[in-house]
Amino acid sequence: MIVSPWEAQDKLLVGVQTRRSLIHLDASDSGKSLLKLWLSRIVSYSAFHKIWEFSVSLSISLFGLGYVGSVSAACFAHMGHKVTGVDISKTKVEMLDSGRSPIIEARMDELVAQANKSCRLHATTDSIAAVLASDVSFVCVGTPSLKSGKLDLSHVEHVSREIGTALKQKKAFHTVVLRSTVLPGTTETLMIPAIESTSEKKHGTDFAVCYNPEFMREGSAVGDFFSRPTRFWDRKARST
Ligand SMILES: NC(=O)c1ccc[n+]([C@@H]2O[C@H](COP(=O)([O-])OP(=O)(O)OC[C@H]3O[C@@H](n4cnc5c(N)ncnc54)[C@H](O)[C@@H]3O)[C@@H](O)[C@H]2O)c1
Repeated sequence: MIVSPWEAQDKLLVGVQTRRSLIHLDASDSGKSLLKLWLSRIVSYSAFHKIWEFSVSLSISLFGLGYVGSVSAACFAHMGHKVTGVDISKTKVEMLDSGRSPIIEARMDELVAQANKSCRLHATTDSIAAVLASDVSFVCVGTPSLKSGKLDLSHVEHVSREIGTALKQKKAFHTVVLRSTVLPGTTETLMIPAIESTSEKKHGTDFAVCYNPEFMREGSAVGDFFSRPTRFWDRKARST
């Protein structure tokens, strides 16, 4: 099923009401990919947020299972999404995949155990398989400060290249969301070129890149995740 933007928007307004109706609309890969592209471009921020939170069950791959990544993975799974966490640390992957939180944080033990029981949260070191099995990838790897005062973006670049390598094999549209702390312009100067060169695909046509800044505080990270609106910016800094 291929729907036009206006059809998608009409059905979307109906779909906001219940989870089932949107999932029904979301039946084919092509319809699903187009709908997500249009959602991120034409639907107002508040509608997109409601849909994201309550109506669409997505398959998510999430890179970096540190503080931000683990909390995001557990909270997205709690919201009903299917999440695959990816990390280079086998210890963190094994912990999350067996239902144990890799970090000490209020409510995390409970959320991770529940998500594991309901089979909505897995973890792997296989980045390619995780991207191929998902609709959207969140990037939450570390960006430590260098002695020069600049941010070390090597992990973001490495993950971007891995996502691009996977996208080379993927036919469906894919959305990439950067959550790591970076300076404005990083998606355009680093992330998009890295994904385009390894995937041989075009940003805006085959995949989209958004920025979703993370504001969670250690100690109240789960509460912060659920209590604050999730904002996405596209590369022209338009709130979507
Ligand atoms: N910790 C916070 O409270 C907080 C709050 C807001 C924003 N941030 C920002 O969020 C980002 C992540 O922060 P954090 O505290 O979770 O970092 P972290 O150092 O705790 O975790 C980063 C994780 O990324 C993993 N990683 C590195 N390279 C990888 C790769 N190629 N593939 C998969 N995983 C890889 C590391 O093994 C590690 O588990 C940073 O940019 C940070 O500035 C952090």
